[in-house]
Formats: sequence, C-alpha cells, structure tokens
Amino acid sequence: MPPALSAEEIRQANTRYHDVAASHYDAKWGIDFGELGLDQVTAKVRKALGHAPGHWPRSLEIGAGTGYFTLNLLRAGLVGEATCSDISPGMLAALQANARRLGLAVRTAPANAESLPFADRSFDVVLGHAVLHHIPDLARAFAEFERVLAPGGTILFAGEPSRYGDRLAAVPKRLATSVAPLWRRAIGAQPLRRGDGGAPDAALEALVDVHAFAPAELSRAARAAGFGEVRVSGEELLANWFGWTNRTLEATAEPDQVPWAWRLYAYRGYLLLQELDRRLLESRLPAAAFYNLMLTARKRPGA
Ligand SMILES: C[S@@+](CC[C@H](N)C(=O)[O-])C[C@H]1O[C@@H](n2cnc3c(N)ncnc32)[C@H](O)[C@@H]1O
Repeated sequence: MPPALSAEEIRQANTRYHDVAASHYDAKWGIDFGELGLDQVTAKVRKALGHAPGHWPRSLEIGAGTGYFTLNLLRAGLVGEATCSDISPGMLAALQANARRLGLAVRTAPANAESLPFADRSFDVVLGHAVLHHIPDLARAFAEFERVLAPGGTILFAGEPSRYGDRLAAVPKRLATSVAPLWRRAIGAQPLRRGDGGAPDAALEALVDVHAFAPAELSRAARAAGFGEVRVSGEELLANWFGWTNRTLEATAEPDQVPWAWRLYAYRGYLLLQELDRRLLESRLPAAAFYNLMLTARKRPGA
C-alpha cells in the first residue's frame, strides 16, 4: 500500500503513470485483439456472470486503458454503442489508435471514475478490467456506476487483485528477484538501464495500486450503492504465479535482449496454466484464494 497520499495525489499518480505506460502497455501485458483476446474477454464475462452474456446496447467502460475489454466485446458483438472512459488521456489515445486499426467505432471520454461526466441512466452495462484497485474513493465510484446505469442494468468488473492472492503472488516475485542475475546470465541479457525515458516511472508504480480486496469488500461496496444480485468469483492462481515470476524476471533485463523463445515459453505457459486453473481449481477453491476477483451486480429494476 502506498504511503499516506491524498486521494487527489493518487489520481494524479495514476494519470501520469498510465500516460507514460500507454505506448508499450499492450506489448508489456500481452494484450491481444485477435481471436485469443476475443476468447479471453468473452470467457471472463461469462465466468463473471455465471452464464452466457446477452447483448448490451449501450456500454460504458471505466479505466478502459488501451481497449482490451471494450474493443474485444465490440468484436464479439456483445455490446452495441461503446463508450470508453479513463483518467489517462494517453491511454485513451492508444485506445483510439487500436480502434482505428481494427475498424471499430468507439466514443472516448477522459473521466475520473468517482465523478462521471454522463447523464443518469444512460448505459445498460458499466464494466471494467483491473481498475477498481486504483480508485481512492470506491463508495463514490460505485454510486456513480449506479447513477449512470439504466434500471436493471449490470455492473461487471474483472481482474481485481484479491488480498490473499496478492500476498501469495509476493512469493514468486521475491524468488524471481533473487534468481534474476542468474536468469539474465542464462539468456545473455544485460540488466535494465534505468532512466531510459520509455519505462513508466518506477517510483509512481508503488503509488497507483491502492487496494487489494477480500471478496466480501467488493460485495459490500456494490450493496452499499444499492445494487442487487451481487456475485463475486475468483480466477487464476497457477497462471498468476507463473506470470508474476516471468514478468519480475523480464523487468530486470534490457527488453530487446530477452529472446523471442523465452517470450513464447512465458506466453504459452501462461495460457496453459490459465486453462488448468479454469478446469481444476476455479470451481473447487474459494474466490479469496485466486489472484483475480470478478464482480457482477444489477441495478434494481425500479431504481
Ligand atoms: C491496470 S490499467 C487497466 C487498463 C485496461 N482496463 C486493461 O485491462 O488493459 C488501469 C487503468 O485504470 C485507469 N485509472 C486509474 N485510476 C482511475 C480513476 N480514478 N478513474 C478512471 N480511470 C482510472 C488507468 O489510467 C489505467 O488505464
């Protein structure tokens, strides 16, 4: 958790950090707008809802980043008119470039989740991926999601770090840090040179994540804002340990010296373990054990 910063300082850190991260965000996180990305996003939506999704005519994404969720949902035909909001103008510029390349129409709006510039009841779904843990005042944000949703509308958030999963992920991160010099020697890479201008400010990185959630905290936040039919589930355990180990190692080396074969191994291994998590663990273990939490809920029809 960051040192005591004001909510405004956390928002500013998020804006600056993600503005700098935008240009290489897709490469760093393996964000895909092909078949793989489409399958991953639709699988997450189905998992979060607990059933096959229908069609949402008007969607709003919070913290949309470069468009991973919305652009893939548009491609899958799950949403009609899509609006993407984010506190970082740099991320929205990258999203628009991705949308142009894919031939997709999407409206973008710079916005802080706690104060949305949209009319009441103007969307059928409000969604997000890996964003709630950056928001200082979650109660205000959930109240805004409820306000801009049409009665009976859905909120759907995925990719939120669970408190327990986050603690477990510290183990592979520590191990990877200690073996990183050996690993770099094995693959023939030099240590990362600092201050190359392209990498997001490492000092800001520690400030942008302000929550890791217990499942009950997410359900409470949704209920407190008036939502019903609240559902919290978990995904990815082995895949995350593997992913964090590799990302921690990779972050210590000059990026262009990490061999392609390594990247392929890391990527394929991650997908394999994701499948193993899905088939073996996700239906058997409690949500709190996983690294990622998912939340869905509905605005009451008469609200
Ligand atoms: C981890 S990134 C996830 C981006 C994208 N959803 C994805 O999954 O690839 C978090 C995103 O949330 C945005 N963000 C952070 N704080 C925010 C806030 N208070 N309001 C709106 N967006 C915010 C960041 O700018 C960033 O684009």
